[in-house]
Amino acid sequence: MAGDIACIGAGYIGGPTMAVIAKMCPERQVWVVDCDEAKIAAWNSEELPVYEPGLKEVVLACRGRNLFFSTDIAGAIRRCDLIFVGVNTPTKTFGEGAGYASDLQFWEAAARTIAAEANGDKVVIEKSTLPVRTADAMAAVLHTHPEHTFTVLSNPEFLAEGSAIEDLLHPDRVLIGGPETPAGRAAVAALTEVYAAWVPRERILTTNVWSSELSKLAANAMLAQRISSINAFSALCEVTGADVDEVANVLGMDRRIGPHFLKAGPGFGGSCFKKDVLSLVYLCRQFGLTECADYWEGVIRMNERQQRRIVERTVHALFNTLSGKRLALFGFAFKANTGDTRETPALAIARRLLEERAQLVITDPRALPNARRDLAGEAVDFCEDPYRAAEGADAILILTEWAEYRALDWARIYRAMRKPALLFDTRNLFDQAALKALGFRVLAVGKP
Ligand code: NAD
Ligand code: UGA
Repeated sequence: MAGDIACIGAGYIGGPTMAVIAKMCPERQVWVVDCDEAKIAAWNSEELPVYEPGLKEVVLACRGRNLFFSTDIAGAIRRCDLIFVGVNTPTKTFGEGAGYASDLQFWEAAARTIAAEANGDKVVIEKSTLPVRTADAMAAVLHTHPEHTFTVLSNPEFLAEGSAIEDLLHPDRVLIGGPETPAGRAAVAALTEVYAAWVPRERILTTNVWSSELSKLAANAMLAQRISSINAFSALCEVTGADVDEVANVLGMDRRIGPHFLKAGPGFGGSCFKKDVLSLVYLCRQFGLTECADYWEGVIRMNERQQRRIVERTVHALFNTLSGKRLALFGFAFKANTGDTRETPALAIARRLLEERAQLVITDPRALPNARRDLAGEAVDFCEDPYRAAEGADAILILTEWAEYRALDWARIYRAMRKPALLFDTRNLFDQAALKALGFRVLAVGKP
């Protein structure tokens, strides 16, 4: 039917994005398809494969009405004329560009399936984050079937996990890049109509395809760069007696700098910042822009350094030996309000603590299933109850900024720990003086 929508890839991005489109465009049918049968079964069950505040309500309101989750990829391609591609684009682990370039095998496979199954003209929309000029490669694959017209648009997604539904409902901007041809303009107009159902038109930006592809990488690189910048200052604060939260507050009140993304901590995690900055580094190198590549690579190096510093400070505070000591990690998700542990700083820190022969117990309100998978084979305890996790611990490291942790009875936790009890608040969640008054030795990031 005209205007119906398919999305290939039912992951963190495809599921929530399409659920919101289905909610806001009840006249359109939305088909979310994936080759992963277990994931589709989960989307059709009570236990969705992704945890996001508000997601379940949206899915339950639309599922079976105009939102469908299916493994019938060919059927969705035939049924719909707007086809989003939201497959994963991880960092390549092999061959040319290993460790930097985006692995485009899933993306190309999706393009080939669209070309093979299409029964008419289609608008193909890049929702995945991709290197600049991927749309060219996409068009080349699609044109292996010249009997149909395929128009490739770029429509990158800017939502953040943990606030995905809110971000989708009230985006700062929606970006649509399209070819400057009659077919391109018509496709951009068709996609604009989808978003205009709930997004004010002045927030729907249209650009050429390459600007759109690059803007997504640039936005993530700028955000990651701010975190590495404030974390670089946190190291300087620790040796000079400055307080990084005070410095961030001063910076943030300058309207030219702004207050967001200035929270020092264990460094950025999540599936995208590292992969997208690495992809940008690779792109710069491909074009011979060595200094640009080195500049952005520094953002990643600083992030890795921050995690090493946290381990070094822990070892130092525990009298230069962790052997046999019990350390409780509070939080394993890469940020609060998600169960996602992809590239979580907690994993990098846990691995280094294990190298120091610490005994680890991990607690997290949402991420324990993923934590168990990430640390399979390691001698680590997992514990839902933070009070039990703290029992007999020499130290607690707060690694995720869960609001729940503020509400705990910290006097009770202190009593349960081995003395002297160390609390390393890597997210700077707590008032240090209050914890010290309870008896804790306290460390924080960027604090004297
Ligand atoms: P994901 O791994 O959660 O989901 C990708 C899905 O695509 C998987 O379920 C996989 O089975 C499926 N898939 C892969 N190849 C397929 C094929 N050929 N046919 C059918 N299904 C296929 O990944 P994600 O986190 O949703 O990210 C997807 C893209 O969106 C990435 O490019 C990412 O950079 C971008 N992105 C993600 C976020 C986020 O918050 N996670 C935000 C913005 C952009
Ligand atoms: C990020 C971007 O914010 C989204 O706009 C983008 O769409 C997405 O990546 C993507 O392309 O995947 P996300 O990774 O889900 O979203 O979450 P963020 O809120 O950006 O947090 C990323 C990491 O930075 C987390 O580990 C978080 O704890 C850390 N962070 C964030 C800080 O250490 N300090 C801050 O001030 C902000």
